[in-house]
Amino acid sequence: TTYKIAVLAGDGIGKEVMPEGLRAVSAAARRFGITLELTEFDWASCDYYAATGGMMPEDWKAQLSGMDAIYFGAVGWPAIVPDHISLWGSLLKFRREFDQYINLRPAQTFEGVRSPLAGRAAGDIDMMIVRENTEGEYSSVGGIMYEGTPHEIVMQQAVFSRRGTERVLKYAFELARTRARKHVTVATKSNGISISMPWWDARAAEVAGTYPDVAWDKQHIDILCARFVLQPQRFDVVVASNLFGDILSDLGPACTGTIGLAPSANLNPERNFPSLFEPVHGSAPDIYGKNIANPVAMIWSGAMMLDFLTKGSGAGRQAHDAIVAAIKSVLASGPHTGDLGGNASTTEMGQAIARLISDA
Ligand code: NAI
Ligand code: MG
Repeated sequence: TTYKIAVLAGDGIGKEVMPEGLRAVSAAARRFGITLELTEFDWASCDYYAATGGMMPEDWKAQLSGMDAIYFGAVGWPAIVPDHISLWGSLLKFRREFDQYINLRPAQTFEGVRSPLAGRAAGDIDMMIVRENTEGEYSSVGGIMYEGTPHEIVMQQAVFSRRGTERVLKYAFELARTRARKHVTVATKSNGISISMPWWDARAAEVAGTYPDVAWDKQHIDILCARFVLQPQRFDVVVASNLFGDILSDLGPACTGTIGLAPSANLNPERNFPSLFEPVHGSAPDIYGKNIANPVAMIWSGAMMLDFLTKGSGAGRQAHDAIVAAIKSVLASGPHTGDLGGNASTTEMGQAIARLISDA
């Protein structure tokens, strides 16, 4: 099989970390016999907007539809294009129109990266946060009434479909099955949100019933956030609605000290559309152009991409694990970019990781 990958570096440091992502992914693909066909696009960028007046060409969907995955850098250059236009004109279109309903983010402690939580050792925290990525609280149903009067009211509905809810829960339980601890925590707030969240809990109980081999619990979002800080080692897979998952997927990596290193996957698990893999960070205009950005988030996202693409063959999991092992080793003993306290360039850190992937 040849896997077709659309490469969109985007803006700012996206353009600096993407070559290192490709270097690592290509090294792992070579080592484990995975054939990739890479196609680079210069759109979904603010430069493209400056030249054409739009973020993407009219036929962007046709150009990407035949791809197996999208490897994405970062979008945004507020000096040229307001952020809501660059984001809604690219990334959010991909998520919605390619039905990438799973947003997956790992959070792990690593040697060489200091967790802001006291006494957290490498390997102590190892969780996967599964965020619903297409519905829930982020609907556009609502409006403002009696505007400008003392009676002004604003409402915005949360919209949960049975299909949308069941599929994200099912994904989380399937994922837990592949992990050592086989545990799912379901985020809820059914004590306060009295219609949608008890319904969400009922869907969770139904889906959980079909996975007798996976242990699970549900926790209200407030205490769940507290436990991310106080007892993060107890979490394995955590599944949440769009809003709760948005919060948890920043909090989890923050607890491990890796928010600047964090990768993410936006998945359409059925593979009806390409899935998208991107670092959590943005285009970092403040450091762009100096070749000092940390390439780990881009490289780690590439590892998730290989794992997803070749699911079932084993090669992608091996490639993923080899990339993560190389990242761990370089985080532990360098070279390090400035954000980690070192003075290596983006290229040097990327090359060191790629060398470990090839040599092992
Ligand atoms: P940002 O993530 O670009 O930068 C935040 C801070 O972290 C900056 O000080 C930056 O220098 C640092 N940083 C980020 N990535 C780094 C890396 N790899 N190595 C070392 N330091 C790093 O977020 P910010 O400044 O809020 O947004 C800048 C632009 O990026 C905006 O246009 C925004 O809309 C866009 N953005 C795009 C995202 C995406 O493409 N998914 C996500 C977040 C922001
Ligand atoms: Mg967020």
